Amino acid sequence: MSLETTYLGLNLKNPIIAGASYITGSIDRIKKLEDAGVAAVVMHSIFEEQINHEVKELDHFLFQGSESYAEATEYFADLDEYNNIESDEYLEEINEIKKSVDIPVVASLNGVSSGGWMKYATKLEEAGADALELNIIYIPTDPSIDSRVVEQIYLDDVKSVRENVKIPVSLKMSPYFSAPANMAKKFVDAGLNGLVLFDRQASVDIDIENLESERKITLTDSNDLSEALRWTAIFFSKIDTYLCASGGVHTYRDVLKSVMCGADAVQMVSAIIKNGEEYISKVLDEMTQWMREEEYESIRQMKGSLSLKNTPNPAAYERANYMRALQEFGR
Ligand SMILES: Cc1cc2nc3c(=O)[nH]c(=O)nc-3n(C[C@H](O)[C@H](O)[C@H](O)COP(=O)(O)O)c2cc1C
Repeated sequence: MSLETTYLGLNLKNPIIAGASYITGSIDRIKKLEDAGVAAVVMHSIFEEQINHEVKELDHFLFQGSESYAEATEYFADLDEYNNIESDEYLEEINEIKKSVDIPVVASLNGVSSGGWMKYATKLEEAGADALELNIIYIPTDPSIDSRVVEQIYLDDVKSVRENVKIPVSLKMSPYFSAPANMAKKFVDAGLNGLVLFDRQASVDIDIENLESERKITLTDSNDLSEALRWTAIFFSKIDTYLCASGGVHTYRDVLKSVMCGADAVQMVSAIIKNGEEYISKVLDEMTQWMREEEYESIRQMKGSLSLKNTPNPAAYERANYMRALQEFGR
């Protein structure tokens, strides 16, 4: 029985990757994750704000509207010096982690502007990262910016990183593009090696007593996996890239569902926060037992077996099924 898979060209002993968060924020935790059986880790992110000194400029760019985009890009393009303490510590951390564990280590770069800070990607590569995961967050609050402009921001970022590193690069993709398959194809054409489906934004909440709006990080459960399953199944035969399901992978069944839809790997964060690192070994045991009972020989064998192309019920992934699902609910 083989749980092996390949993701971003990296050979993984099984499909479970610990995703970016504080659970991958120290060598001790990463060692625990490795002992529990995770096949790779994505480090907690280094943020654009931590790399650039001029946070005020960035805030202006992000929150005051699009008119500052060109100006900010130009500004960041001149930034070649990276002597910021936090970003140096991150490079040192990669170096130390690589010396301490045998599993692949993916660095995570989180930001939006396509200026000089993207050159920091080269430093992540030099520090020993096996791959790089991009998390690009751009919230277009200006109604005059059309979707093509927004998409171009993402594509420029991807191209800029691709030009600066040789290691595989993936993107934790936003679920909010109006044509996700077209966007995925453009990302891959721009040189991406893999897509993580999907990114999960911090939630917005309102404190009605103190009259404040707040950002909140909430943990997922298995019900949150639906869109990742749908788009993994759709992309499997249409987009030539590695796919990683993320956002709601909690149980061995979630891992297997993702693989059957076409995922090469999955990422887990909330499940590990809720249950501890050792929970991964339980998930791996349960997966193995289920596969043995169902007479599967390998993970590779089941990959994509229920993708859009292969499922006997393609309507499940499409609008066609929505009306029937509503009619059947509660019967
Ligand atoms: C406490 C916490 C910290 C996180 N930190 C990061 C981060 O640094 N970078 C990032 O790209 N995603 C971050 N995420 C998002 C996770 O990587 C993941 O995409 C999200 O939690 C959905 O996966 P899950 O259902 O397995 O939790 C964080 C999530 C949580 C809960």
